[in-house]
Amino acid sequence: MALPHTKLAALLGFLGVSQLASPALAGAPKTCASTGAAAQLSCHNTTAVTDTCCFNSPGGSLLQTQFWDTAPAVGPADSWTIHGLWPDHCDGTYDSTCDSKRAYTNISAILTAAGDGDLLDYMKTCITGEEFWEHEWGKHGTCVSTLAPACFTSYQPTEEVPYFFNLTVSLFKSLPTYEWLAAAGITPSSTKTYTLAAIQAALSKNHGGEEVYIGCTSSAVEQVYYYFNVRGNAITGEWVPASPDSSDDGGCPSTGVKYLPKGTGTTPPTTTTTTTGGPSPTATGGVFAGKGYLNAVTGGSTKGCLISGGTWYTTGTCATFTATSSGSGFSLSTSKGDCSAASGSLTCASSVESPGVFAAEGSALLNSAAGADDWFADSVPSGSTQGTVYAAEGSHGTTLQLQWQSV
Ligand SMILES: *[C@@H]1O[C@H](CO)[C@@H](O)[C@H](O)[C@H]1NC(C)=O
Ligand SMILES: *[C@@H]1O[C@H](CO)[C@@H](O)[C@H](O)[C@H]1NC(C)=O
Ligand SMILES: *[C@@H]1O[C@H](CO)[C@@H](O)[C@H](O)[C@H]1NC(C)=O
Repeated sequence: MALPHTKLAALLGFLGVSQLASPALAGAPKTCASTGAAAQLSCHNTTAVTDTCCFNSPGGSLLQTQFWDTAPAVGPADSWTIHGLWPDHCDGTYDSTCDSKRAYTNISAILTAAGDGDLLDYMKTCITGEEFWEHEWGKHGTCVSTLAPACFTSYQPTEEVPYFFNLTVSLFKSLPTYEWLAAAGITPSSTKTYTLAAIQAALSKNHGGEEVYIGCTSSAVEQVYYYFNVRGNAITGEWVPASPDSSDDGGCPSTGVKYLPKGTGTTPPTTTTTTTGGPSPTATGGVFAGKGYLNAVTGGSTKGCLISGGTWYTTGTCATFTATSSGSGFSLSTSKGDCSAASGSLTCASSVESPGVFAAEGSALLNSAAGADDWFADSVPSGSTQGTVYAAEGSHGTTLQLQWQSV
């Protein structure tokens, strides 16, 4: 079933999504043909389409991804939250950080300047924060071909950013996972479990009969991805529900799927550390400044720290990190170079192309990919082993927090 843009817009209007104010002098998305060979559906084209302003390519599959984070809980108890809007190739693979020159670190300022305070306020309630938005924009948004600068008439730098977030939020509001599950009697419970088929049926019947990707960790649902193909430009085109095109099955069991209430799972260890000596953390208001160590806390106690490449070491000398204000957060560097977690693991090296913008909560370094202060490793490194610190849990069974200690 196709979901014409006009219908989506009407639905969103009903849901109270405000239209973006048009900033003075801004350009507009290029006009695209709505019929004929130039108006083929992404991932379904029968001939090559060269105008990637009117045809999303190679990222022809657009996924609105949502989180159900229970420990720590993120967002309202009766709503899923926004992960992002991702352009995937039509086979589960994807490009990331397609234009580092447009990986802006001032998303809030851009939205405010575009007169879109309402959108920003809404984003604050359902996405984790500035650094996360920067990550989502820089990694995924810059890969939406139809949002490239060349796709606007009289392009004004950064004008594609409000469009991207407006699109993300609008889609999210049109995909109320919590309500759809509740309508099928599927509600959060710490004792009840559900079949994967029941969850799938409750969602796919609202997605044009197309399947939805359902992701689980330890048999509990924690992500859903709604796939779409688009005819035309992402802003002005027609969004058509689609089924997942990746071979990743989400890892949920077919029966006994948990849908845990928010805030009732195990919470990560508190920020109390057993660090010996040294001044106490000076991190306040979520920003690290000056020089410090990043201690690794796992299972409630400090076990080593990060060394200069950004890896975890339990027996050596800690690297001194320099935190410098960047965007609404800060960047980190060591003697090896700038640090970033964009590749999926924490790395500090001269080869890091664009330094990550980090955020903190108290003295804990936040991980935008996890939307929390958890970082992941395969195990607690022993002896002279340097452990990789991952941004996504994946199959990395050890959870750790990184605690700033000013030096
Ligand atoms: C924001 O999104 C809504 C829903 O798709 C749309 O009606 C509105 O025109 C959008 N505004 C801009 C400037 O993109
Ligand atoms: C669809 O369009 C893309 C981009 O132009 C092209 O690479 C691909 O070969 C096309 N597919 C078909 C079946 O023509
Ligand atoms: C955001 O950053 C970009 C690139 O650094 C800059 O061109 C733009 O003027 C900034 N926008 C605002 C509103 O601060």
